[in-house]
Amino acid sequence: MNNSPLLTLNNKVKMPAIGLGVFRAAGDEASLAVQAAIASGYRLIDTASAYQNEDQVGRGIAASGVAREELFVTTKLWLNEYGYDAALRAFDASLGRLGLDYVDLYLLHWPVPGNFAATLESWRALENLLYQGRVRAIGVCNFTQTHLEVLMGRTEIVPAVNQVELHPYFNQLDQRQTNARLGIITQSWSPLGGAYGYRPLEKPITPLLEHPVIAAIAKAHGKTTAQVIVRWHVQHGLSVIPKSSNPERIAANAAVFDFALSQPDMDAIDALDNGNRAGPDPDLFDLDYLKMLNARAGK
Ligand code: A2P
Repeated sequence: MNNSPLLTLNNKVKMPAIGLGVFRAAGDEASLAVQAAIASGYRLIDTASAYQNEDQVGRGIAASGVAREELFVTTKLWLNEYGYDAALRAFDASLGRLGLDYVDLYLLHWPVPGNFAATLESWRALENLLYQGRVRAIGVCNFTQTHLEVLMGRTEIVPAVNQVELHPYFNQLDQRQTNARLGIITQSWSPLGGAYGYRPLEKPITPLLEHPVIAAIAKAHGKTTAQVIVRWHVQHGLSVIPKSSNPERIAANAAVFDFALSQPDMDAIDALDNGNRAGPDPDLFDLDYLKMLNARAGK
């Protein structure tokens, strides 16, 4: 059973530490995953306009039978929706697809360093949505310290959350410390290292879920490697959104509150960091860069 603790955001809103990720869950898969997650106790669901499954996520939420106010729903603004007016329109469209009248957390999906003015205009739209009470909290994804400093220097509201690629191979110690210093909760995307599977790797890497260090810790605790990794995120005070479309794995991934990792366990997992991200570089991000990465991956 998922009895995830709650994290308190900088505007006092409470967010479950563990949620369901649905990146690359298409069609009914997303709806069924959301229903399985909510049935097994998840209360945080993380989607995005760019995932093209907000309608399915909304259907899953509606079918779950759980009261809206018990759920914490996150969605994200995509780059082709950046700009003040465009962002407000995109938010309405996301709400319509989700079949909701508010979202709990609305995030900018990426910084656009080459046109940061558009990023700032979009953030001002999110601030407006917060003032109107149409979202309960606003935040960003993939922001570096520099992006955060520029944003915070030119806008009013400090992001509540910074969702970044974070897993034992890329544990983002500096970014976590920066976020904490600024009062921003760090949320881990691709927490199990699934992003290594999105694009061909120059050098093959042991899948995190099969890593012998993690496997040994899992064996010692009688847990799966995925549970050990999710627990590692939670013990670091992170919010974590493992993606799965399989009901058993969805339930198991969040069943991490009947054991604890020791300090040596945590240290051993921390030591797996190799400093290399699997996903895109936030300092280069824009739609052309993404197109180039996808073309390189044959997508
Ligand atoms: P599936 O949806 O078939 O379960 P990440 O969240 O790090 O991006 O990882 C997501 C990937 O990991 C997906 O491919 C998902 O596949 C797989 N996955 C999620 N949970 C588990 C698990 N407990 N064991 C093995 N694979 C998992």
